[in-house]
Amino acid sequence: MEEKDQIKPTEAASEVRKEPVKLCNICGELRNNPLGKKNLDEKRIMEKKKPIKRNEALKPLSREHHHGLLLCWKIRQGIKMQVEPKRIKSYTDWFKNKYLYPHFEAEEKFVFPVLGDENPFVKKALAEHRRLKRLFDQQSEILKALSLIEEELEKHIRFEERVVFNEVQQAATPGQFEEIEKKHHAIAFSDDTWDDKFWIIKRGVKTEV
Ligand SMILES: [Fe+2]
Ligand SMILES: [Fe+2]
Repeated sequence: MEEKDQIKPTEAASEVRKEPVKLCNICGELRNNPLGKKNLDEKRIMEKKKPIKRNEALKPLSREHHHGLLLCWKIRQGIKMQVEPKRIKSYTDWFKNKYLYPHFEAEEKFVFPVLGDENPFVKKALAEHRRLKRLFDQQSEILKALSLIEEELEKHIRFEERVVFNEVQQAATPGQFEEIEKKHHAIAFSDDTWDDKFWIIKRGVKTEV
């Protein structure tokens, strides 16, 4: 392995640190980078384009997308550091039950109906939900499933943010926005109580990736 590819102890990303606030292009909000600058592949998660102006009713779902993208980053990081796949899967299992599946359900019940079942974007999004659920629930070839989740969940979220939600914003009536706002409340995200933070490179520990 070339020296430039190695993470030196002095450069090892630290545990969660305070970072200057920045604008998240996914949820359109000012927020701290919760994982530390060096730990976050910012080019892929936060884009430098102007944020999409998101309707208030859809903001909670967009915030959930932000955490979905962070999940993808954590999986990527775990795979890169050769963390035992079962440890990563324990976390993705917890995340899917607490956050992701309720998010899919909210989209299917309150957001996609604005465009209707026959809309090609809705059809694609629904097919991706089914595919992602199969990958999250898969009990064999775990590493392969995690790698596909990381790739496909990120694509799915970007598709919803850039295409589906924009279409919904153009098509929804004030009554439909009101309905979405009334029915879906974002579940406040926290994984503070999750002990096995496999994605964090411990300070001073030399890791060759
Ligand atoms: Fe979705
Ligand atoms: Fe979504």
